[in-house]
Amino acid sequence: MPDAYILGIESSCDETAAAVVHSGEHVVSNVVASQIATHQPYGGVVPELASREHLRAIIPVVRQALAEAGHTYNSVDAIAVTRGPGLAGSLLVGISYAKALAFALDKPLIGVNHLEGHIHAVLLDLLQNQERQKGNRDLQFPVLALVVSGGHTHLYLAEQKDQGWIYENIGHTRDDAAGEAFDKVAKLLGLGYPGGPVIDRLAGHGDPRAVKFPPAQIKHRDRRGRKDGRAIEPIVDANDHRPRFDFSYSGIKTAILRYVETHNMRASIEERRQALARIPKPTLEDYLALCDKPTLDLVASFQRAMVEDLVEKTLAAARTYDAATLFVTGGVAANQELRQTFEQEGAKEGLPVFFPSRPLSTDNAAMIAAAAYPRFLAKDFAPTDFSAEAGLALR
Ligand code: KG4
Ligand code: ZN
Repeated sequence: MPDAYILGIESSCDETAAAVVHSGEHVVSNVVASQIATHQPYGGVVPELASREHLRAIIPVVRQALAEAGHTYNSVDAIAVTRGPGLAGSLLVGISYAKALAFALDKPLIGVNHLEGHIHAVLLDLLQNQERQKGNRDLQFPVLALVVSGGHTHLYLAEQKDQGWIYENIGHTRDDAAGEAFDKVAKLLGLGYPGGPVIDRLAGHGDPRAVKFPPAQIKHRDRRGRKDGRAIEPIVDANDHRPRFDFSYSGIKTAILRYVETHNMRASIEERRQALARIPKPTLEDYLALCDKPTLDLVASFQRAMVEDLVEKTLAAARTYDAATLFVTGGVAANQELRQTFEQEGAKEGLPVFFPSRPLSTDNAAMIAAAAYPRFLAKDFAPTDFSAEAGLALR
């Protein structure tokens, strides 16, 4: 395999990131500038602010990634950038900069699907660990990958083809993504943004069996369409009658809203929200001091319900499609209870389960540079009219 240093650039949502990865396996540098502080007062990502922050951060972040790797603009072999899916304005900042760099330096440019990046984040850590352990590097296919983040809850069946991977979507969320549900529930309970990490830390302090939620019901076939270019493409091919494993998380969010109303929790939530807004970096103790037992029980029950639903559906899909290996990746894959439950339940079925390290679970550019490597080998470079595709599908 040829040696190659790829500079990856990622700006699809609220993180400006750059990284240098050696031959798709070794993370040489990995810099992530988070915009959490910018979006925190709004309880979610504001697209216009995200683009502005990317513009501010992109040049220093790329410079830092090169410097930490001991590289220069000229010494890298290719530039990889996230093409989609994501916020169009945010994607365009990374793409315009990557195109300009590639043009000025006369280096190949590689467009990467953000979701394929999340899947390759697992591979990055797997290859590094296996090398350390001098273990068997053969991965068994088909791989079932659950990409679970603030924007996605997607199940892909992956096979190897030539030097790269090909993907087939066998499930996705019909409404909110799992990370979005964590964020919305945290906002509803006055716990701030982003919600996932806070809920993760608080859930262990409540009773996960205290509040019962009805299971998500999906009765109809998915008839929605996705805007692909200008045409509206159905998300699911009408002639594809194989089993699907879709998710739905808007119901649990509504159930929590109703619980808050019927248990008169509004006033204490507002008090907590205001108290937390006055603390620059709240610690776990600050959160615990501001949460009563019913709130902690509600948080723990919500997380348990989310984890059970994600694990049950994913393992059912793995059985149906006879997956040999399971990958769980994306921001929500940083969740401790989710990791433990997947490991336990996967082991019962003899299914090997792999996650990225926690820092590589959330958005980063190392995963983009890693996913670009097979395309670099295949000389699959971006055309000059290459642009952002907010609704890019993974195939
Ligand atoms: O992959 P990511 O950084 O960005 C997207 O592509 O969306 O994922 C961010 C999402 C947010 O919704 C955040 O609340 C969630 O991942 N998240 C978590 C945890 N850490 C981040 N959710 C649950 N538990 C966590 N520990
Ligand atoms: Zn992501």
